[in-house]
Amino acid sequence: FVAVFDFGAQYGQLIARRVRDLNVYSEIVPCDISADELAAMAPSAIILSGGPASVYADDAPDMDKRIFDLGLPILGFCYGQQIMAVKLGGKVGHTKKGEYGPAQLTRRGESRILDGTPETQTIWMSHRDAVSEVPEGFSVTSVTETCPVASMEDASRNFYATQFHPEVRHSVHGNEMLKNFLFNVCGLDKTWTMDNIIDDKVAQIREQVGDRKVILALSGGVDSSVVAALVHRAIGDQLTCVFVNHGMLRKGEPEMVEEVFRKQFNVPLVHVHAEERYAKLLAGVTEPEKKRRLIGTEFWKVFFDEAQKIGDVEMLAQGTIYPDIIESGARKTGGKASTIKSHHNLIPFPDGVHFDLIEPLDHFFKDEVRELGVSLGLPAKMVYRQPFPGPGLAIRIIGDVTPEKLEILKNADAIVREELDAYNERLFEETGDRNSEHSCWQYFAVLPDIKSVGVMGDERTYQRPVIVRAVESSDAMTADWAKLPYEVIGKISSRIVDEVAGVNRVVYDVTPKPPATIEWE
Ligand code: XMP
Repeated sequence: FVAVFDFGAQYGQLIARRVRDLNVYSEIVPCDISADELAAMAPSAIILSGGPASVYADDAPDMDKRIFDLGLPILGFCYGQQIMAVKLGGKVGHTKKGEYGPAQLTRRGESRILDGTPETQTIWMSHRDAVSEVPEGFSVTSVTETCPVASMEDASRNFYATQFHPEVRHSVHGNEMLKNFLFNVCGLDKTWTMDNIIDDKVAQIREQVGDRKVILALSGGVDSSVVAALVHRAIGDQLTCVFVNHGMLRKGEPEMVEEVFRKQFNVPLVHVHAEERYAKLLAGVTEPEKKRRLIGTEFWKVFFDEAQKIGDVEMLAQGTIYPDIIESGARKTGGKASTIKSHHNLIPFPDGVHFDLIEPLDHFFKDEVRELGVSLGLPAKMVYRQPFPGPGLAIRIIGDVTPEKLEILKNADAIVREELDAYNERLFEETGDRNSEHSCWQYFAVLPDIKSVGVMGDERTYQRPVIVRAVESSDAMTADWAKLPYEVIGKISSRIVDEVAGVNRVVYDVTPKPPATIEWE
């Protein structure tokens, strides 16, 4: 596998994904891992990521110099090139002006990394410091107008580095450079394919579980659904899925869970109808964080009650994915693989209750989880569904949650989703791109805690408005309101007021995040 050193700001994640896209397994390691710890992991190659710091800053992320003596091929990008230069006896200095964005690269002489790419090409730069003197044994293999060492290599020791970022798409031939490293320099095999992954995971799960019983909290979300399908493939009916229906799922969702897991996969499924229990629990509760807390705590209570009923369950399967681990452990604790903790620590196990965990997706990126889901036979609408908060529609009903409001919201939300699914589909047909510029990323209805005056026929009405929220985003950290065509908004509006009893007005939220959030509560 390829060990990707993360020098900060999540640069490593993108590189690890690019490597895996080329069917080679890669893992992120903390940059301060020791040569011995790394050697014990037996990687085949190393990539050093970029990072926001200056190599000479006091708190600059450092690496163990002895790693260069392990005899492994090493490729460094940006900060990775600079730290390689410094560790091997070269020099790094400030450039007169920084270089940010696209730049023209000109090749110089032979290069195993740039091999097969044009003499001049567009690459992506983002730096202020740069290598001013290459270490002994290295030659400069490309330059830009402002950067005298845009790439360097010492092919005899298999050390390669670029000041630019081949991992970003704006570096037009970046992928070819990565391929040159992985396949020509390192001679790696393309073993990271979905079929291999499923076979390996199935074998691992069987070995880990033995003849024990496993339980899983199935929500209908992407991660828990994929874990369910995978673990079931491995151990069949030793797995029981518990689906806690709190009544605040979207229209059609409980039915889809039944359809897919009970009918199609034939997984032992306990469908807990907790709708009334939750309705009582939430009656009169208006404060958003209190709703979240109550729903979360109650969820685990219901779940563990069910686990007790099944009896002799020793293991709990969880849909923890790689970013959960990276984000909860590696960065907060400043490195050290041994201190990485996954978010399962947050499960409030009741006193005296213990389960061994299996988290078969804990080294998968979200895109890979989706691909795995498709390969396991889950329907696309489950695998590609938009993010949906755990507390469900409760946080899309402003104020207290009542059965009447839930009914209105479910129906209005179903219309928003139907129309915008169709809109996204039309964009996809026009552009051939699932993530084309104006496609909506998340879209739903919100029910505010107010009424408004309207008129129907000769009658004055005093009913509820519905808010439509639709955003473009890639990671939910920032978002913009979707610039939907007027006719699309118009159709959603007229369908909601025509089809949903109790609604006489529809408004569209035109606020980006920040300053707003995607959700209303
Ligand atoms: P905000 O509203 O903070 O949401 O912009 C960012 C993303 O997170 C989702 N979200 C939640 N997911 N539990 C979850 O599992 C929650 O309590 C929760 N609140 C927000 C939201 O849908 C969006 O995708």
